Amino acid sequence: MKISLLGSSGKMGKSLIELAHNDPSVSITNALVRPDSIYLGKDVGEEHFNKRSGLTFCAFPDENFDIFIDFSTNNRLEEKIELYKKFGKSLLFCGTGLSKDEELKIKQLSSSFPVFYAPNTSLALNYLMNMAKKVSTSLDFSEIIIEEQHHKSKIDIPSGTAKEIAESLHIDANKILSKREGSLGNYHKIIFKNKNEEIQISHFGLSRKLYAEGAINIAKWFYQKPKNLYHMQTLIKEIYE
Ligand SMILES: NC(=O)c1ccc[n+]([C@@H]2O[C@H](COP(=O)([O-])OP(=O)(O)OC[C@H]3O[C@@H](n4cnc5c(N)ncnc54)[C@H](OP(=O)(O)O)[C@@H]3O)[C@@H](O)[C@H]2O)c1
Repeated sequence: MKISLLGSSGKMGKSLIELAHNDPSVSITNALVRPDSIYLGKDVGEEHFNKRSGLTFCAFPDENFDIFIDFSTNNRLEEKIELYKKFGKSLLFCGTGLSKDEELKIKQLSSSFPVFYAPNTSLALNYLMNMAKKVSTSLDFSEIIIEEQHHKSKIDIPSGTAKEIAESLHIDANKILSKREGSLGNYHKIIFKNKNEEIQISHFGLSRKLYAEGAINIAKWFYQKPKNLYHMQTLIKEIYE
C-alpha cells in the first residue's frame, strides 16, 4: 500500500512514517507539506530521525500512491479538497476540529471516491463509545459527565471525540469538562451517576503511536474498497461483530 501523507512534518506524521518504515507492506511515497512549509524540499529522515532517507517533503504528490492519509491541521481545507479531487484516490481523513459544514464537505467527497472519516483512529476508544451508548440506553442515570484531557498544544477544545460522545449521549457539548496539560497522553472519561452508584468508563491514550497504528490498520482494510463513506463503526461491524 503506497501512501501520500498530508501532515508529514507534524507529530502524527512522524509517528506514521516511523511505523510505515517498519512495515514491509506499506510505503510513504509522498510526504506532503504546505507549499510554504519550512520543511519543503528537506529530507524526511534527516528532519525526523537524524538519518537521511532519500524521501523529500513535497507540496504536490506524484501519481505513485494508492491512498491519501491526512494527519494535517485543518487550515486551508479548500486547497486540500481540491488536491483530493484532482487525484480521486481513496482518502483516510484523520484531522480534527472541523466545523459541521467542513465535516460535511469531506463526507460529500465520498460520492466521487472512497472516504474514511476517522477523527479518532483508536479501535479501543471507539469501543468505549459503543459501551457508553449501551449504558445510556439500558440504564437510568440522573447525571452523565464527560471529561477529557489532552496535551497543551491541541488546538480544538473540547476534543472532537468528546463532542461525538456528547452527541451520541444527547448531552450539551458545552457541559464537557476539558483540560489541556503537558505534552503527551490524553484521556476521555464518561461518568454515569445516580444517588447511590456510579459507573465510570475511560480510555487513556498513552502514546501517539496508537493513532498512527490505528490509521495504518484502517488504511489496509479500506484502501481498495468501493466508493462510499466509511467510519470506525463500519469497520467494527465488518471485522469484529
Ligand atoms: N484521528 C486521530 O485519531 C488523531 C489522532 C491524533 C491527532 N489527530 C489530528 O491530527 C492533526 C495533526 O496533529 P499533530 O499533532 O501531528 O499536529 P502538528 O504536529 O502541529 O502537525 C500539523 C501538520 O499539519 C501540516 N499542515 C498544516 N496545514 C496544512 C495544509 N493546509 N496542508 C497540508 N499540511 C498542512 C503541518 O505541515 P507544515 O506546516 O510543514 O506544512 C504539519 O505537518 C490534528 O488535527 C490532530 O487533532 C488525529
